[in-house]
Amino acid sequence: MATVSLKSINKWFDTSQVLNDISLDIEDKEFVVFVGPSGCGKTTLLRIVAGLEEATTGEIEIDGIEVSSAHPIERGISMVFQSYALYPHLTVFENIAFPLRVAKMPKTELEEQVMRAAETLQLTDRLQHKPGQLSGGQRQRVAIGRSIVRQPKVFLFDEPLSNLDAALRGEMRVELAKLHKSLDATMIYVTHDQVEAMTLADRIVVISEGRLEQFGTPMELYHRPKTKFVAGFIGNPKMNFLKVPCLSSNSSGVTLKLPDIGEQLLPVEADTVEEGGNLEVGIRPEDFSLSDTDKGMPMKVEVVEHLGGSTMVYGSVADHLNFCALLPGDTEVSDDSVVKLEVNPASMHVFNSNGDAMRRREIPAMHR
Ligand SMILES: Nc1ncnc2c1ncn2[C@@H]1O[C@H](COP(=O)(O)OP(=O)(O)OP(=O)(O)O)[C@@H](O)[C@H]1O
Ligand SMILES: [Mg+2]
Repeated sequence: MATVSLKSINKWFDTSQVLNDISLDIEDKEFVVFVGPSGCGKTTLLRIVAGLEEATTGEIEIDGIEVSSAHPIERGISMVFQSYALYPHLTVFENIAFPLRVAKMPKTELEEQVMRAAETLQLTDRLQHKPGQLSGGQRQRVAIGRSIVRQPKVFLFDEPLSNLDAALRGEMRVELAKLHKSLDATMIYVTHDQVEAMTLADRIVVISEGRLEQFGTPMELYHRPKTKFVAGFIGNPKMNFLKVPCLSSNSSGVTLKLPDIGEQLLPVEADTVEEGGNLEVGIRPEDFSLSDTDKGMPMKVEVVEHLGGSTMVYGSVADHLNFCALLPGDTEVSDDSVVKLEVNPASMHVFNSNGDAMRRREIPAMHR
């Protein structure tokens, strides 16, 4: 299998720049997911890796070899698209065998390869069917089968599950994770669905407007987002943001004024904060709990959703609308009430006016 390195990739379409100085190193056998909102450049970046699109400037290495001007076939990659692109008049067997027929592989070896792929993807009893007789999930597995038999160094997937319904998407997600384990292959997977990214990836690349915002493990992105964009994009339901005045800053952190709670010291590295300005505090819905005293942030409740295992409470805090708190399933809260929310200061995130996260200070063990 293979490593993939992107070095300062820039891409312009006419006068608009869609990729801006993207550099990253993908390790052998890693499952890396490119995630970001629609139009941020995910497909373009994947097509550049595949050789279907040329970077305006920058270099690509696969397994340490410069391939920027190599033909797609010479790169040892295989791409699975959102639309399955199967041949409707061919059987499942022939669809999977197609690239091997093109490569004129001898019959016995070809049959062996197709049968092995069909077994991995649990398609053995569908080999004589035509694509029209298959479910969406089975069609997607045939498309994956066709890429497996080519034994590529790197698999590329562009939103392969987005045509499937929610239940099937969940199932196929598990299948893909198993496939990655059994093939031991380097995989790059594009999606705009952060849940898919979190569950499948060894590491995630978050892209916004053609720029790489952060490259890290799912837990790094969740616990230590580097920007407000990453903080808001990763996590479901989304992080809440609250604009608050900064009262002072020093070597212990920043002191902010939180609604009703008042002064709160947050232990972040505060070298660059201008006192008197505003900062933004980020709080994940799951980090709130219901206060059983009079203390806490008051939330004017608008909608309560009982999901069984959890309760989602939506409302406004100070003049910030659409706040969300994720509370235990047996929480009793009524619409139009005011509840007090507590949150451990250690789980609050702070962002400066550029949208960059302020790094948390390591607190010496004796003060914890
Ligand atoms: N051939 C092209 N010519 C001109 N502009 C293009 C071309 N292909 C893509 N773009 C533009 O480049 C930007 C990035 O497109 P891209 O398809 O990479 O986005 P994406 O992140 O994959 O979005 P989605 O999640 O909707 O698939 C978009 O603004 C798009 O309009
Ligand atoms: Mg796309």
